[in-house]
Amino acid sequence: MPGLAASVNTPFYQQHWQQIHLPLLKQRQTELWVCHLQCRVPAIAGNKWLKLKYHIQHIQQYEKTGILTFGGAFSNHLAAVAAAGKAFGFQTHAIVRHDGAVLNPTLAACQEQDMQLSFVSPQQYRQRQQSGYLATLQQQFPDWLLVPEGGTSPLGVKGVAELQLNNTPAGAADLICCATGSGGTVAGLALGHPQTAVLGINVVKDPSLPEQITALAPHQHNWQLAADCSGLRYGQFDAATLQLCLQLSQQDLPLEPVYTGKALQTLLAALREGHIKTGQRLVFFHTGGLQGLDGMLQRQRITQEQYQQIKSAELRLWHQFG
Ligand SMILES: Cc1ncc(COP(=O)(O)O)c(C=O)c1O
Repeated sequence: MPGLAASVNTPFYQQHWQQIHLPLLKQRQTELWVCHLQCRVPAIAGNKWLKLKYHIQHIQQYEKTGILTFGGAFSNHLAAVAAAGKAFGFQTHAIVRHDGAVLNPTLAACQEQDMQLSFVSPQQYRQRQQSGYLATLQQQFPDWLLVPEGGTSPLGVKGVAELQLNNTPAGAADLICCATGSGGTVAGLALGHPQTAVLGINVVKDPSLPEQITALAPHQHNWQLAADCSGLRYGQFDAATLQLCLQLSQQDLPLEPVYTGKALQTLLAALREGHIKTGQRLVFFHTGGLQGLDGMLQRQRITQEQYQQIKSAELRLWHQFG
């Protein structure tokens, strides 16, 4: 997409609000507003543009060759970095955690956008935060910007902190909620909304996450993490989560069951169980990730019909917003 290279500072997305209606919300006199970011490059939707914006600006400013980053074989972050490289005219290289998967739809899309892929074993992948390993990589790729997994770095957090989620059509939020993996989104939202409570639903279950978020947002005390209510490990989901995704697709809310579906399910469970006060206005930040549905379909973890149902909701949503 020529012409984007100079435009990292011009608005790249539009923010849209969608109110969700459910009997539980009515019973608990609770408003639920979902915030969507509609990006000029759809693969960089959700939290991805926010986390990448300042990395891209850094590349342009310091004339770096490209971004070298890390991710799993179905990573939304890798898909977004590959699309950003293509759109903004820089090279991309990924160190991919190889779990025996052959090329899947996510990695195929990355390659189509000219991302170079280097596969490493899960053991090697564990070195991704070690300074010695990173120094060696930086020597091998001297003019490249190394971006941590998930785009979670001070630059990523700075981009997320710019998002304003207090401006729902009905007024300010009492609680802002999102799915949490590497912690950059929660850290940025907490920084950007110092007067509002921020809840991250932890779908990855990394015990070092609170420490990492504290390092990224050292003086913020307005965030909390909650474990996702399915209790399943990252990437796994149960019938109830998928069912919620399908149910909400009927209100034109597209969710996938690994991040946003699990997180919203946990938020609703917390409301049902009385962990969230009644009478509040809740904001759920839609962090994207819908590309992951392609891999779920390929592995037959969802049916063609379920896939279509959620994809049609996505189409209707963007159509509504014009
Ligand atoms: C769809 C989706 N939601 C939420 C997250 C979690 O964001 P973070 O890694 O910043 O916690 C990710 C990972 O970036 C994601 O891909």
